[in-house]
Amino acid sequence: SQSVAYDYVIVGAGTSGLVIANRLSELNLTIAVIEAGDSVLNNVNVSSPNGYGLAFDTAIDWAYQTTNQTYGGQVQQTLRAGKAIGGTSTINGMAYTRAEDIQIDAWETLGNQGWNWETLLPYYKKSQTLQIPSDDQTAAGATYNATFNGFGGPLKIGWKSDMDTSNVHTILNDTYAALGVQWNQDVNGGRMVGYNRYPSEIDVTLNVREDAGRAYYYPIANRTNLHLYSNTVAQKLRWKADALSPTADGVEVLAENSTTPYVISATREVILSAGALGSPLLLELSGVGNPTILNRYNISTVVDLPTVGENLQDQTNTGLIWNTAGNKSYTASGGYVAYPTAADIFGSRVANVSADILASLPAYAEKVATASGNITKAKDLLSFFTMQHNLIFSGEHAVPVAEVLLTPSGNVVDTEYWALLPFARGSIHISSATAGAPATINPNYYMLGWDVTSQFETANFIRRIMATAPFSSLVADETKPGLDVVPANSTQEEWFKWNAGAYRSNFHPVATAAMMPREIGGVVDAKLKVYGTENVRVVDASVLPLQVCGHLVSTLYAVAERAADLIKNDL
Ligand code: FDA
Repeated sequence: SQSVAYDYVIVGAGTSGLVIANRLSELNLTIAVIEAGDSVLNNVNVSSPNGYGLAFDTAIDWAYQTTNQTYGGQVQQTLRAGKAIGGTSTINGMAYTRAEDIQIDAWETLGNQGWNWETLLPYYKKSQTLQIPSDDQTAAGATYNATFNGFGGPLKIGWKSDMDTSNVHTILNDTYAALGVQWNQDVNGGRMVGYNRYPSEIDVTLNVREDAGRAYYYPIANRTNLHLYSNTVAQKLRWKADALSPTADGVEVLAENSTTPYVISATREVILSAGALGSPLLLELSGVGNPTILNRYNISTVVDLPTVGENLQDQTNTGLIWNTAGNKSYTASGGYVAYPTAADIFGSRVANVSADILASLPAYAEKVATASGNITKAKDLLSFFTMQHNLIFSGEHAVPVAEVLLTPSGNVVDTEYWALLPFARGSIHISSATAGAPATINPNYYMLGWDVTSQFETANFIRRIMATAPFSSLVADETKPGLDVVPANSTQEEWFKWNAGAYRSNFHPVATAAMMPREIGGVVDAKLKVYGTENVRVVDASVLPLQVCGHLVSTLYAVAERAADLIKNDL
C-alpha cells in the first residue's frame, strides 16, 4: 500500500474529468486522476476520423447492459461508454452540437442559480478552438458565426477534410426548405432548429479525432503537480473518521492485476467524473444513496440521498436506409443534420398533439414516480414535464424535437434519428457491494406514449424527406425497414413491432446525480457539491438535470469548464 496525498482527487480521466484536471493543475495545487482505462493515443480505432464503431466491444468499451426493457420490446440494450484516457470522447461520433439556449435557462428555473445560457456560452467558447473551413467547405455549408465560437481553447473543432462538397448540400437544403426546415448558419449559437452541416471534434491538421485526452491532458501531461493513475479502478470514497459531517479524505482504488486495494488521499476534495453510469454507483458504494438499496448490500448509510441513480434520461436511435438512385456511390463524409420542431414533424396536427400530451402529463408523472418506488415524486416530475412540454410546444420559440442525420454512403442513403426529448425516466443502481460488478440499469425506453409517438413521427418525416424534390431524385427504394415490412401509412403499433427490434440506445444518458434543489430530488447543488457532504462533487453527464437537444460533449466540456471556476472560487 502507498500513502500518497493530493489536494484534489478526481475519479475518471474522461470527457469532464480531464477538464477539471487541466484547469485545477494550472494552480499551485496537487491533483490526482484515477482512470480504469489506459492511453489510446496510438489506437487507430480511436484516432481514425471516420472510424465510428471500430472501438465497440473492444477492451475500451464498457458495454454496460440494461435490464430487459419492459416497454422497449423486452430486449436488453448495450450502453456504450469509453474506458480510456479521454473516456467516452474516445469512442463517440465526434459530432459537436450544443443545446438550445432556453433549455440551459431551464436549469436555472429549476433552482440552479447561475446556470443559464448566458453564463454557459463563455465556457463553451473557452473550451474550443474552431478551425476555419476551406472555401469549398464553406460553399457546401460549413458555416459558423464567430460570435458564438471560441478560437483559443484546448478543444479543436472543425470539418472533416473529406467532407462532401458536392451539390448534395444544395439539393438537401432545397428539400428541407420545401418541408419548412430552414438553413441554420450555426447550430451552436443556442438556436438549433433547422438544417445544418455541423462540425466535429477533430484535429484538422493531424486528421485525427480530437478526444479529451488530446485536447485537455496530453498537452499538459508533464505538469509535475498532476498525476494520472491509469489502469486503476476507484472502489469507493473513504470518509474522514473524526469529521462532524461527511468529509471524504481519499479514494480506495485497485490497480489492474492487483488484489490489494490502497487509498489515494485527498486533503481538499474528491471529484467524481466517472460518467452518468459510473458516478452514481461510486456514491452508493460509498454510502450515499437510498438506504433501502444500501442496506440490501450491507453498506452503511453516510448520507440518506435516495435519488442517487434516479432520473436517468436517455434517447432511442433507429436507422432507415434507402438505395441510391442509379446505384450511385458516395465516398465523402456526410455530416448533414436536421433539427425539426414539433410543428415540422406533426404539421397541422401539432396543436392537437400538444393538447393531448399536456393532458397526459399527470399520468406520465404518476407512472414514472411509481416505477421509481415513489423515490422521485409525481408532483416534482409533473413540474419538470410541464417545463419540457413548454420547451417542445411553445410555438414562438420551440426547441427541436428530433435529430435527423442523413448520410449518403456507398450505394445507400443512411439515416439515423432520435426523438430528442422523451419523458421516460429510469435508474441505475448497484447490484452488489463489489465495485465494478454489473449495475442494474433501466432507462425505461418507450415507457410513455410521447416517447413512442415522437420516434414514430420522426420516421414518417424521414420518409417525407426521401419523397420530396429535389432530394427524391437521389434515392431509389427503401431497404430498411422497407415498405414490405412497414408499409406507408402504417399505424404506430404496426411500426413499433419493427422498431422494438431495431432501435438502440442513443448513448446520451444524463441526470443520474442531477443538479437540482434537494427538495425536488437533486443530488448535487449549483456548485455541483453532493448534498450532505462537505467536499464531494460530481462533474460529468450525471449532473445535467434535463436532457439537451445537442450531442452531449460540447455541453459537458462547458459545464466542466464552469465547474473548474466554481471550484477555484471556493479556494
Ligand atoms: P466519460 O465516459 O467521458 O468519462 C468517465 C471516465 O471514468 C471514463 O474514462 C471511465 O473509464 C472512467 N471510470 C468509470 N468508472 C470508473 C472507476 N470506478 N474507476 C476509475 N475510472 C472509472 N456526444 C457527442 O457530443 N457527440 C457524439 O457524436 C456522440 N456520440 C456518441 C457515441 C457513442 C457510441 C457514445 C457511447 C456516446 C456518444 N456521445 C456523443 C456522448 C458523449 O460522448 C458522452 O456523453 C460523454 O463523453 C460523457 O462524458 P463524461 O465526462 O460524462 O464521462
